[in-house]
Amino acid sequence: MNDLFVANWKMHKTIEETMAYLDAFLPLLDELPDDVDVAIAPPFTALATASARIEGTRCALAAQNVHWELHGPYTGEVSAPMLLELGVRYAIVGHSERRAFFGETDRSVNLKVRTALATGLIPIVAVGETLDLRERGLTDDVVITQVRAAFDGVARTELSKTVIAYEPIWAIGTGKNCDPGEADRVMATIRGCVSGLDETRILYGGSMKAANAASYVERPHINGGLVGGASLDPAGFAHLIRNAAE
Ligand code: PGA
Repeated sequence: MNDLFVANWKMHKTIEETMAYLDAFLPLLDELPDDVDVAIAPPFTALATASARIEGTRCALAAQNVHWELHGPYTGEVSAPMLLELGVRYAIVGHSERRAFFGETDRSVNLKVRTALATGLIPIVAVGETLDLRERGLTDDVVITQVRAAFDGVARTELSKTVIAYEPIWAIGTGKNCDPGEADRVMATIRGCVSGLDETRILYGGSMKAANAASYVERPHINGGLVGGASLDPAGFAHLIRNAAE
């Protein structure tokens, strides 16, 4: 299975900035080995522009969220068919910022995962513990609960299509990345907690950067990265992927 690197731009970049980013970024992908997959997750407003620009390249498109209903009275929400129409392949589901600030729960994550899979979007399910839970020795319990809930009712045959991102919340945007051995240990726990996750890609997220990316993907259970801050600069993100891939 190819490693996968996803740029999670969060609430950054206008359409104009997206075009400038892709002008710089796409040529750099030619230098990367073939066995690595790349996606960018711009804000919803820039998806259409990005989709047109990446057509025919090896860069795929991801959304940062998706609703579980296909249409209806859900002001402010965006559905899977709307994303698929734009050529979106992946949708991040359950990012800790959405759980913390926008009321995302294990239940809504599960509904979104099921809808994504039913419609042909690949969910990137984000899980991870707070510092408080880690210090109380509850890391494994928390991620096991999140992963089991996310895939509740999902057919075993669908699990290999999904992607999981293990993102310790205390490592996100802090510069304090999780020790790669410890991240790999948690990911092995994740892989083992639901049967059928052997072929599922598990990404590390949380202050991944060019200097530490290789130390993650060399571990047996780590299949790429969900990258926030270090993905905002096109040359920097390409450098990160190249370091990890080589
Ligand atoms: P970071 O964010 O790389 O800035 O820590 C990762 C994420 O939140 O997905």
